Amino acid sequence: MRKGLETLKRQALDEIAGAHTGEEFLAIKTRYLGRKGLLTDILRALKDVSSDDRPLLGRISNEIKEAISAEIDGALARLDAEGASDALLRERIDVTLPGRAVRYGTIHPITRVMGEICEIFSQLGFVVAEGPEVELDYYNFEALNIPRDHPARDMQDTFYISDSVVLRTHTSPVQVRTMEKQRPPVRIISPGKVYRPDSDVSHTPMFHQVEGLLVDRGITFGDLKGVLTYFLRRMFGEETVLRFRPSFFPFTEPSAEVDIRCVMCGGSGCRVCKQSGWLEVLGSGMVDPEVFKVVGYDPEEYTGFAFGLGVERITMLKYGISDIRLFFENDLRFLTQF
Ligand code: FA5
Ligand code: MG
Repeated sequence: MRKGLETLKRQALDEIAGAHTGEEFLAIKTRYLGRKGLLTDILRALKDVSSDDRPLLGRISNEIKEAISAEIDGALARLDAEGASDALLRERIDVTLPGRAVRYGTIHPITRVMGEICEIFSQLGFVVAEGPEVELDYYNFEALNIPRDHPARDMQDTFYISDSVVLRTHTSPVQVRTMEKQRPPVRIISPGKVYRPDSDVSHTPMFHQVEGLLVDRGITFGDLKGVLTYFLRRMFGEETVLRFRPSFFPFTEPSAEVDIRCVMCGGSGCRVCKQSGWLEVLGSGMVDPEVFKVVGYDPEEYTGFAFGLGVERITMLKYGISDIRLFFENDLRFLTQF
């Protein structure tokens, strides 16, 4: 029996040496080691062998089994490795194919126009100041001469966080925060996001404003008109026709809203300007003495002007966009035009 085992082993190893494909190796494995395999038969027959010989024959049979197994597994692993490197060799890079273009992003029109606005005012000597979007009721309203129960609060719908904390409804609180921290002269602009529960073709719940504030000795309404006229002509062109229209804000006195001649119809009246020929672009006025008192400036010594412009509004007018919601839909066909 021992001799039979040796022969079987040699025969199996020969067959393995002569095999080439994975199927051939697996077939050999089945033929010798499978449930009805040649070696399996022998192992089964061991129970009829005398108990003296059984241990030795058992050990030899197992060694043969492992040797065949190891040979076949080794051969299969080599086949795998060769297959993988063949695949690598077959893979070629076709350098004649057109390249894949990198898609560059574009600056959002609101960001672009906000940058232009800041640029123009920086050239006039204004510096950028920032304030929080989650704001105390005190800075957003109270310090701006809008007391808790005053009807002027109705001018700006408000998202309340708590009784004393709001999402700021305008950038004007930055006026107060800045004046609290420094003495005149003050010359700042403050760009940023503001929030109101509004929603239609010209109003969104979040939008952008740029605030401006200039305080010094001897500042007059003439300075306000000069600065804003200069700004609007830089923004919309030298020929821009504008008008200052009396208005009301609790934190400025007197107050004016500034309109430009409708850029869509040139003033003859259309849907965009609601047939009036004019479009409102900003609110402005001379800083109210009440606000100076709150921050400890002497209204007898200092005067100043402030303004707040809606960036979406300016951008719509500049590029002839008729629906404000386009700015926030993230449609690349719209955004890549700027
Ligand atoms: C103000 O917010 C004042 N703080 C402006 C001001 C500053 C006056 C300093 C005097 C001194 P008003 O509520 O009108 O004013 O808003 C200013 C501009 O924001 C408007 O002209 C308009 O262009 C824009 N705006 C207002 N609400 C919305 C909205 N929901 N969506 C988009 N733009 C808006
Ligand atoms: Mg207004």
